Amino acid sequence: AKTGTFFLEGKDLSYGFFINHTGFPEHLYSGGRIDRDVLLYTRSSGGHSSVATPPGEDTQGAQRLFSYHQFSPEISFFGTGDYREPTVHAETVRGDRLTRLLYAGHEILPQKPKIDGMPSLSGGETLRLHLADPDGGLAADLYYTVYDDCSVVARRAVYHNRGAERLILHRAWSFAMGLCGSDYEALTLPGNWASERSVERAPLRRGVFSVDSKRTSSSATLNPFLAVVSPDATEDAGRAWGFSLVYSSSFVLKAEVASTGETVVSGGINDFDFSWVLEPGERLETPECVIAVSEEGLGGMSRALHDAWREHLIPAKWAKTPRPVLINNWEATYFGFDFDRLKAIIDAVADTGIDTFVLDDGWFGKRDNDRSGLGDWTVNENKLKGGLGALIDYLKTKGMKFGLWFEPEMVSEDSDLFRAHPDYAIGLPDRARCYSRHQLMLDLTRAEVRDYIVDSVNRILDAYDISYVKWDYNRNVTDSYSIGLPPERQSEFAHRYALGLYEIFDRIVDAHPDVFFEGCASGGARFDPGVLAYFPQIWTSDNSDAEDRTAIQYGTSIVYPLSTMSCHVSICPNHQTGRTTSFATRADVAHLGATGYELDATVMTDEERAAVRAQIEDYRAMEDLVLSGDAYRLGSPDDNVFGVMLVSRDKSRARMTCYRRLGGPRHGDPVRLCARGLDPAKRYYVPELGLILGGRTLARVGPVPTFPRGDFGTFVCHFEEK
Ligand code: DGJ
Repeated sequence: AKTGTFFLEGKDLSYGFFINHTGFPEHLYSGGRIDRDVLLYTRSSGGHSSVATPPGEDTQGAQRLFSYHQFSPEISFFGTGDYREPTVHAETVRGDRLTRLLYAGHEILPQKPKIDGMPSLSGGETLRLHLADPDGGLAADLYYTVYDDCSVVARRAVYHNRGAERLILHRAWSFAMGLCGSDYEALTLPGNWASERSVERAPLRRGVFSVDSKRTSSSATLNPFLAVVSPDATEDAGRAWGFSLVYSSSFVLKAEVASTGETVVSGGINDFDFSWVLEPGERLETPECVIAVSEEGLGGMSRALHDAWREHLIPAKWAKTPRPVLINNWEATYFGFDFDRLKAIIDAVADTGIDTFVLDDGWFGKRDNDRSGLGDWTVNENKLKGGLGALIDYLKTKGMKFGLWFEPEMVSEDSDLFRAHPDYAIGLPDRARCYSRHQLMLDLTRAEVRDYIVDSVNRILDAYDISYVKWDYNRNVTDSYSIGLPPERQSEFAHRYALGLYEIFDRIVDAHPDVFFEGCASGGARFDPGVLAYFPQIWTSDNSDAEDRTAIQYGTSIVYPLSTMSCHVSICPNHQTGRTTSFATRADVAHLGATGYELDATVMTDEERAAVRAQIEDYRAMEDLVLSGDAYRLGSPDDNVFGVMLVSRDKSRARMTCYRRLGGPRHGDPVRLCARGLDPAKRYYVPELGLILGGRTLARVGPVPTFPRGDFGTFVCHFEEK
């Protein structure tokens, strides 16, 4: 209280800022735990006469040489002396675009309030900081939540119009945060269809580094994530801050190396093609940004995020519960199936341990290819004689459960839905629209469209015994326009789409608490924390080639725990790449996630069927490590040999999976991957070596993997406390 400092403490983090003499919330520290010392000595020592003073402060006194621009920010604003990226940019109907938001009070809440209409982390003691513009109607509440069980700070802003005239927000980001100095690298997760979430690192330079999406989805192109890391950060050491938005629509995250020599990270809803009308008395909630802090390099940052999602975001009922091990018919049949074809697949896997059969695209409306039928969520009984009921009954005789594919946000022009309601599709009625996979998208900003989707999906889920849903999304928005919005609100479209989507998720998922939902978006094109708040796992990529999957799953693990990645053993030659990898490799790679199968089981040999049985036994024995263990990456896909270690929380068990991309003539040459995450004081039995070794030894003298001859081989070993 004496210094006006807020000191927030999470599991292994401290976060400090204070209210300075102008009322500006000035960032002091974010990083590993420190003592509760007075940190004011860390402030920058001041500016020079050319800085812009705060409005009306042109005195000759001691406070002449200061400016909002100099203060390490918790928020930045436009037109009143701060030239950095503003966190908020508002305009009145008179054209006044100037803002400053200064301390107006605070509260400490025992529990974090939920965000209206958007997912966010649950629980946690929360600081709500009230800021207001002394010269205008804009006010903001900044929320900060910390947790005892994970090293993250959850931040967001709520903007209020407390004035008497309409405000237009041109930008309304969730947070800003200063970082001392500028010697950092940005780490991002760019990708594309079938090569989602690769890892890129590049030094920050003076100016603004940015990642974003303008697709009304988080997208495969750039995940809504940005890490700022020290140049020496490795998997195990160095400083890293990871910024992850709990949001599924167009976003932006920026890291600005400012003229002050410090780095400011900020972001939220993408302000491109965005504005929001805020009438007097109204407020706008912004998505949460979860900021992970690590002094243990990239690995520590990832584990902090994994903990946050598993403990506070993914539906608790499923987060650590054993998952269905399923077989999906897509790559076996594509659209070409009938009852007998599906029955044959089911028969072929009935005694293998696969417990769920998932019927993919093509079961509804008129849908024999991807040109028609979307929107008509009624069973096509001409194609599937006896309908879903007969299939489910048959599965029950085999002791198996049933899962079903939907793509509820879409409509085909050749569908009963489009013929009856062409206006339900996004776009301007008098402008030709863009197609993607021959389909259009439904306007989720409109209540009647949301009702149609909820009713048609719920009707199927209520009528049949369905235990699993795969929710697909195979294109991005174009033609952003809603006939339900007035002209001045058209730029609210992308955010309103997200709000509509979350409402639909709420109404379908809440009504079916026993159904397990998996997200999918042409593979992993909407793999984000917003989706994970409803769907515990997401189809990681349409690319199921084990070699490519090692890199995709590696990149995905930077932010997301292995339990969220749906990973299937598929047929070879692989349908996406044409590559052949061994059955064992495909299974070992798929076991680094929520495993399943995606192949034509009817052509499997008895030997392969026996292998599936053994693979599933192996998976079930390690599944708790996937669901709740700590993940340690050993090297990266840039190396020919790399791996992943999963360690139980009590450090009594672990499993190491090593992968070698290319073999070679001297395939026996030893490569060593040192163990990570074991307790140095414990001793472990390593069955593959037939030895008991110390945790300390294994961390320095790791096992030497023995790979099978040839390319794309795996080696798995286990550690059991003795
Ligand atoms: C894309 C998905 O990623 C695939 O797994 C499959 O469900 C197809 N869509 C079906 O259209």
